[in-house]
Amino acid sequence: MKFEQAEGTNPIDRLKVIGRAHDRIDGPLKTSGLAPYAYEHHDIENVAYGAIVGSSVAKGRITRIDTAAAKAAPGVITIVTAAEAGKLGKGKNNTAKLLAGPEVEHYHQAVAVVVAETFEQARAAASLVRVDYAREKGRYDLTEQLKVAPLVGGSGGPNSGAPPVERVGKFEEAFAAAPVKLDAEYHTPDHSHAMMEPHASVAAWNGDELTLWTSNQMIAWSKRDVALTLNMPEDKVRLISPYIGGGFGGKLFVRADALMAALGAKAAKRPVKVALPRPFIANNTTHRPATHQRIRIGAMKDGTITAIAHESGSGDLPDGGPETAVQQTKLLYAGANRMTAMRLAVLDLPEGNAMRAPGEAPGMMALEIAMDEMAERLGMDPVEFRIKNDTQVDPEKPERKFSERQLIRCLNEGADKFGWNRRNAKPAQVHDGQWLVGMGVAAAFRNHINTTSGARVRLSRDGIVTVETDMTDIGTGTYTIIAQTAGEMMGVPAEAVVVKLGDSSFPASAGSGGQWGAANSTAGVYAACAKLREQVAQRLGYNSADAVFEAGQVKSGNRSAALRDAASAGELVVEDKIEFGDLEKKHQLSTFGAHFVEVGVNAYTGVTRIRRMLAVCAAGRILNPKSARSQVIGAMTMGAGAALMEELAVDKRFGFFVNHDLASYEVPVHADIPHQEVVFLDEADEYANPMKAKGVGELGICGVGAAVANAIYNATGVRVRDYPITLEKHL
Ligand code: MOS
Repeated sequence: MKFEQAEGTNPIDRLKVIGRAHDRIDGPLKTSGLAPYAYEHHDIENVAYGAIVGSSVAKGRITRIDTAAAKAAPGVITIVTAAEAGKLGKGKNNTAKLLAGPEVEHYHQAVAVVVAETFEQARAAASLVRVDYAREKGRYDLTEQLKVAPLVGGSGGPNSGAPPVERVGKFEEAFAAAPVKLDAEYHTPDHSHAMMEPHASVAAWNGDELTLWTSNQMIAWSKRDVALTLNMPEDKVRLISPYIGGGFGGKLFVRADALMAALGAKAAKRPVKVALPRPFIANNTTHRPATHQRIRIGAMKDGTITAIAHESGSGDLPDGGPETAVQQTKLLYAGANRMTAMRLAVLDLPEGNAMRAPGEAPGMMALEIAMDEMAERLGMDPVEFRIKNDTQVDPEKPERKFSERQLIRCLNEGADKFGWNRRNAKPAQVHDGQWLVGMGVAAAFRNHINTTSGARVRLSRDGIVTVETDMTDIGTGTYTIIAQTAGEMMGVPAEAVVVKLGDSSFPASAGSGGQWGAANSTAGVYAACAKLREQVAQRLGYNSADAVFEAGQVKSGNRSAALRDAASAGELVVEDKIEFGDLEKKHQLSTFGAHFVEVGVNAYTGVTRIRRMLAVCAAGRILNPKSARSQVIGAMTMGAGAALMEELAVDKRFGFFVNHDLASYEVPVHADIPHQEVVFLDEADEYANPMKAKGVGELGICGVGAAVANAIYNATGVRVRDYPITLEKHL
């Protein structure tokens, strides 16, 4: 089914099953420990265990690997290094190789996998592998490397074909002439995904066919990349990823656990399990790159922005990409004269890549402090200043309208609900015992992306509707919204739908990434169900155009039949996918919101406590308010972490992230987070897809950090532009 344009009402608009706060259908399996995560497929027989040896240098060459002691250790079956692995390719989404040798590209890059009868034996033997390196000088200091870093193409990354500097009007002249202006620099640090479930895979070979039970967000991408890495045909690779204990972008790609399990299993001639130990998450996998951002805004005295520029610098391994932190500045506020640019430094640190809302998450952390600073210089309320500079068209291409843009409503309703009028605009005025109290606001913005997504739907002889798609549930609620979608379309309750996910033998879906998963995967299920409805009507001899599917019945005129009657002659199986035309030439699809935060900063210790948080989101139709709220409060929590504590500490001598565990890479705990409120505006975006839905899971993080920073400023009068805002920065 090709979605070309808004198409009026459809069966989803009845909102009998979709749009309801439905409990997670996978909840009982998860809370009782019965949902098998990648490492927990205990029914695979004769499994051996692999332990990865990671490089202990960041850059250099392996000169010798001595595996004799490890091979002689108890239980060891085999050891695979680059020498045994033979020639490997590289996945399209991998920057560094997943197995080092002879070159080492980053610290903890895999050097070998030791396969043994038990996990403990594998781990003990891995410590006996002796690797000699010729260490080379690496580049680990972003500040230094940005001095010699080239400009790279626009928001789509260096290969997007966009010019390195994007301009509208004459920024420099307009900025120079502006009566009120700001020129400030902001820093965000490297972040680790720190998901609960580490990367893990079980690999099993059957002849030349490989099956990987793995924890992965994007099955189709990763199946392709496994095949590319192992130089084998894609149709010989099967990925199975039914449950994922968090990903946040860290599991968008094939990582060393999958490759080393596959190589280990081939050599051992047995299935092999590999989980990355916690320290490998920071240094062996990907992370969100640090940014240095410069923002310049010029405005007239009435608050109208006349000039806005956002430049961002980040680093990555050779052939990597930039953190696209300038993205939102191209779209969020009006202003006739504009400029965005990015620099990309070469760093020999572990590989940078997507982490929750890549681009906008760190970009909004800077832009939305800058907006607060400008509002203060203008003597304007920060809510008013944002409203004044709203735009209903793409500021770079005014012929493109936003499909839906309710930023103003988000700000106004949020301000009302939060009691914004009680905020004292003058900083450091409000006390509560030892605490200085302040309020902050930030806009939220994240793009929505349309992408092809497929599904298969079955109607069995006993009337059971089953959906099969390679879409994943990374803790987001996918099982539930897909059941709700098929339930709505086929006229049955969500409980009556069986959902099977995360298997590459099912039709390829959008996958879970970039907050596109929910809207696109359900739109794919919609397309398949639309086809199934036609077949049902045909079998029953009804006219599909006027058939109504409701309460397990199909009605047409004054005739009606049970849904299962359509399959009495045999199971119906259909497959379809949603595809999109060039709708986005005319309409910009984005999601909007407003974050409000109240903090207390201890006047004696400098400790910040978040006291209240509110998010108001406008993100198209909300498919399940309960799971959507969970996504947003999780994102707000991650935003609070980014504001106050999260930071990978770079060892600039040896080139690695020092705090590579959950004791030293701090993320918020329950005690850090107060009651959070989330409001969804009633919106249905007819230009997005037949579900009229967009994403919300990443919108929830975008802007939170700045709202916290602005609240700290309001509480203390100290403006911190360097995240995380730890206490020594405002004492
Ligand atoms: Mo998201 S960072 O695309 O999982």
